[in-house]
Amino acid sequence: MTMTPAVEGKKNVVLMGRKTWFSIPASNRPLKNRINIVLSRELKTAPDGAHYLASDFSSALHLLDSPELEKQVDQLWIIGGSALYKEVMESSDPRRLFVTRVLKQYDCDTFIPDINMNKYKLLPEFPGVPTGLQEENGVQYIFEVYESTDH
Ligand SMILES: NC(=O)c1ccc[n+]([C@@H]2O[C@H](COP(=O)([O-])OP(=O)(O)OC[C@H]3O[C@@H](n4cnc5c(N)ncnc54)[C@H](OP(=O)(O)O)[C@@H]3O)[C@@H](O)[C@H]2O)c1
Repeated sequence: MTMTPAVEGKKNVVLMGRKTWFSIPASNRPLKNRINIVLSRELKTAPDGAHYLASDFSSALHLLDSPELEKQVDQLWIIGGSALYKEVMESSDPRRLFVTRVLKQYDCDTFIPDINMNKYKLLPEFPGVPTGLQEENGVQYIFEVYESTDH
């Protein structure tokens, strides 16, 4: 989903927190065919391999409007972690949530914020997203797509 722009010749942006960037194996960074932007208040330069660094969410959005990026960017995908998801889920821009519900219990230390159903509706289907129960390596999961209703 993040790799495929809707407009030919353009690219999607993946925006992520510093820890998410470093959780991607070095050999897979940057995420290919996408413009990778890392958010950090501490870093002074973009980490090796990342295309851009931004010091907060609104600076990242301004960067997308810059002459350098404006013409080549199609979609903005926010890929975590927790604080960034929370900030964006509470923002007022039109947005969609692409959620995978894994139907198994795991011990976890990082959590997606609750989805506020006053701000989102669950879509019955979405192009390119399989409906119904999925299974991989014996683990079942479902895809859900939510759309914001408050913009
Ligand atoms: N399964 C998934 O889909 C998924 C998705 C994303 C992440 N993850 C996992 O979640 C973990 C990381 O998530 P996390 O929530 O702990 O950390 P994170 O959000 O990836 O990184 C936190 C750091 O990002 C920077 N940051 C975040 N929001 C910012 C903002 N609004 N403005 C400026 N800087 C900002 C800060 O960096 P500085 O400290 O440098 O200022 C902050 O300490 C990893 O284990 C990763 O694998 C999983």
